[in-house]
Amino acid sequence: MAVLLTGGTGFIGSHTAVEMLKLGNEVILVDDLSNSEISVVDRIKKITGKKVKFYETDVSDKKALEKIFDENNIEGVIHFAGFKSVGESVKKPLMYYKNNLDSTLSILEVMKEYKCKKMIFSSSATVYGSKNTVPFTEEMETGRGISNPYGWTKYMIEQILSDFAFADKSMSIVLLRYFNPIGAHESGLIGEKPDGIPGNLMPFITQTAAGIRDRLTIFGDDYPTRDGSCERDFIHVVDLAKGHVAAWEYALEHTGTEVFNLGTGNGYTVFELLNTFQKVNGIEVPSVIGPRREGDIARVYADVKKAESVLGWKAEKTIEDMCRDSWRWEQKERQRTIGN
Ligand code: UD1
Repeated sequence: MAVLLTGGTGFIGSHTAVEMLKLGNEVILVDDLSNSEISVVDRIKKITGKKVKFYETDVSDKKALEKIFDENNIEGVIHFAGFKSVGESVKKPLMYYKNNLDSTLSILEVMKEYKCKKMIFSSSATVYGSKNTVPFTEEMETGRGISNPYGWTKYMIEQILSDFAFADKSMSIVLLRYFNPIGAHESGLIGEKPDGIPGNLMPFITQTAAGIRDRLTIFGDDYPTRDGSCERDFIHVVDLAKGHVAAWEYALEHTGTEVFNLGTGNGYTVFELLNTFQKVNGIEVPSVIGPRREGDIARVYADVKKAESVLGWKAEKTIEDMCRDSWRWEQKERQRTIGN
């Protein structure tokens, strides 16, 4: 029996593949490579020494998905595939709704056809919107104050999946709400590789440290936080990947829909992250203070008690680990790109 990872060559998919393989699971990756590279498959093999099957397929393509289900014995799906740029989603909402919803509906239809009963879904803390106060707990109302179409697709997909599991009591759905994943595998072989100018903080920091960007703009220093910059729950991607393994094990034993926050439970500000990065890596990252970015909220961090008590999972890596591993990945990837 295998686990299908849609978006399996992406940032979180690839790290989850490694952790799933390490524990002896059979893993099949599917990705259309629109935002990742084929070389990731070999790198996963290199890290784990295990076999990995890969299909270059758009998950919205039902016929292609059926072929994958025909050729393999798929026990469940971890569904990462989806567009994820907040800024782009504001400019191209239809593209986001179509891609993220279509792909989810296709995979669900095929799962139904093949009686595949387990799905883990990549959701986001963004579903908590701007009306809740920290720490965010899974019971809080979602949806109010979501600021962009990307966030709405996560919210809508959570609803679709819950309805689907409600109609079929033998289904098991786990919704994982990620906080701010950063870091990279300690091998430096896999990590986050944004297309173009990074929208997220850590890739912008590493690219500025590498000299690709002139300076980081800190979006606002007048928030009601301890130093005026926004506070976020940064989580190491390897911890996040292990959270998926715990969720998968949970799904094997339970039916219905369950939701978990995957964060550390600790908030760090933008200044704190930047200072830690400079300190642990001994490198200066030029920065300036700019105006606030539209849609940002001051404080975002998770209540992680539920994941701890129900999944037995807890993030272990420190903010220093995250900064060190992000920088190692950036440097190694630059060297490889120049080498080619
Ligand atoms: C965003 C999305 C979240 C998504 C996550 C993916 C929203 C509101 N947020 O989170 O849904 O899951 O990305 O990782 O939908 N910053 C700077 N300068 C920069 C870039 C960022 O100061 O160049 C600041 C931002 O203002 C923010 C913090 O760094 O306060 C983190 O930003 P970012 O990495 O973009 O993540 P979020 O906005 O928290």
